[in-house]
Amino acid sequence: MANPKKFIITLDGPASTGKSSLAKRLSNKLGYIHIDSGSMYRAATLFALRLDPERILRPNIFVKYLSEIKIDFKKNHEEQKIFLNNEDVSHEIRKTYITNEVSNVAKIPELRTFLVNKQKEFGKNKGVIMDGRDIGTIVFPNAECKFFLTAKVEVRAKRRYLEQLKQGINQTYKMVLDNLIMRDGLDTKRVNSPLKKAVDAIEIDVSNMTLDDVYKKLLTHIKKIK
Ligand code: CDP
Ligand code: CDP
Repeated sequence: MANPKKFIITLDGPASTGKSSLAKRLSNKLGYIHIDSGSMYRAATLFALRLDPERILRPNIFVKYLSEIKIDFKKNHEEQKIFLNNEDVSHEIRKTYITNEVSNVAKIPELRTFLVNKQKEFGKNKGVIMDGRDIGTIVFPNAECKFFLTAKVEVRAKRRYLEQLKQGINQTYKMVLDNLIMRDGLDTKRVNSPLKKAVDAIEIDVSNMTLDDVYKKLLTHIKKIK
């Protein structure tokens, strides 16, 4: 049964606008489930690359195996872990070889239908905050609360670069910037569920805002609905 007091919150926008950090914090505060839909596309990309050791993605072959993809989320000491066919792939899917391929895999229409159905399932009891690219437009067009975050690409690249540096991922600022520009292009231009603001989403430019500032702003909007 859907919980009448809880609702669905969508958080969309391009890469490195703070969506998953904010969704995680909000979900802890509100007692909501957090689903990072991007990690589902990343897990599917890992599956696709393992199918094809030559790393040449052949969508017509890949789509035949969709029913073999099982994705679960489990919380472990406050950390959300993602499992691909019972294997914890939380760390693997953040690696650069996945980041470089994910937007090409994410544009395969059959995969999108497959994952969107799973995402809808996660939201059936409400009390969910989901971040991604098409959550407010395609996955939950009737969500009660929608946000769309933006920021200048150079700011996003700098933030992601610094984050990766701390994690020991060895990429230059220029490599990170080029990847974000490439993904922004693929994500906004794809025919099937492109990255786009839902007409009823609240848009916030976070270029000059700290995560704390954005968090407070989102919470103020959410409290107006509650
Ligand atoms: O964490 P980061 O912002 O780098 O990206 P992500 O949220 O993990 O998403 C990785 C990629 O998955 C995006 O660049 C999109 O190509 C794709 N994606 C999508 O197509 N639709 C979604 N709802 C979420 C992610
Ligand atoms: O999920 P998404 O790719 O949109 O972003 P994220 O992984 O939550 O954030 C990317 C990086 O930018 C993290 O290191 C955040 O702490 C940082 N960030 C920030 O410093 N200030 C903001 N206003 C937004 C993000």
